[in-house]
Amino acid sequence: MSEPEKIRYLLALNASITVDPVANVTVRALTTSDVHALAELMLDAYIGTIDYEGETIDEAVGEVESWFDGSPLLDHSYVAVVGGAFVSAVLVMMLDGLPFIAIVMTRSDSKDQGLGRYVTATALVSLSDKGEEQVVLYITDGNTISEKLFLSLGAVPQPS
Ligand SMILES: CC(C)(COP(=O)(O)OP(=O)(O)OC[C@H]1O[C@@H](n2cnc3c(N)ncnc32)[C@H](O)[C@@H]1OP(=O)(O)O)[C@@H](O)C(=O)NCCC(=O)NCCS
Repeated sequence: MSEPEKIRYLLALNASITVDPVANVTVRALTTSDVHALAELMLDAYIGTIDYEGETIDEAVGEVESWFDGSPLLDHSYVAVVGGAFVSAVLVMMLDGLPFIAIVMTRSDSKDQGLGRYVTATALVSLSDKGEEQVVLYITDGNTISEKLFLSLGAVPQPS
C-alpha cells in the first residue's frame, strides 16, 4: 500500500496572525532538558492518527533528539504547560533556508481546546517579530485537523 502523500504548504507571516491565549495554560520556549517529556507528548498525540506508524517511546525520543541535534529554532519553538504537564508543542527548525514547522502536537485528552493554535500562533508571531516573512510545513494528505489548523492560519498548499 502506498504511503499517504505529504503536501507542502507555505505560510506568509503577517499581522493578521494573532495569539489567542488559553486560560490556565503557560507557554514557554523549549530547552534541551525537555527531550523526554516531548517524546511522551509526541507518542500520546500521534497514536491513532494518520501519521502514526507504530513508533515506540524510544523512537519518539530519537525523533526529538534528532530535532535538537539538527537546526532547531529554540527561540521560536514552544510548549504549552498545564500543572507541570506538557499538553501541546510546536517544533520549528531551519530547512533549506526557511523556517520549517517540523511538528505540532497536542496531548490526546487536550485536543480541540485551542492549544495547537496557541503554540503555533506564538511561534509564527515570534518568527515574524524576528523579521521572517514565511514558513514552510508539510501535512499528510488527509490529516484534516492539521489542514484545518494551518489553512485557518493562512497556509497555502503548493503545487507538486
Ligand atoms: C493537529 C493537532 C496538533 C491540533 O491540535 P489541537 O490542540 O487539537 O488544535 P486546536 O484545538 O488549536 O484546533 C485547531 C483547529 O482544528 C480544529 N479541530 C481540533 N480538533 C478537532 C476535531 N477533533 N474535529 C474537528 N476539528 C478539530 C479546531 O476547531 C481548530 O479549527 P480552526 O483553526 O478553524 O479554529 C492535533 O490534532 C494533533 O496533535 N494531531 C496529531 C499530530 C499531528 O498530526 N500534527 C500535525 C502534523 S505535524
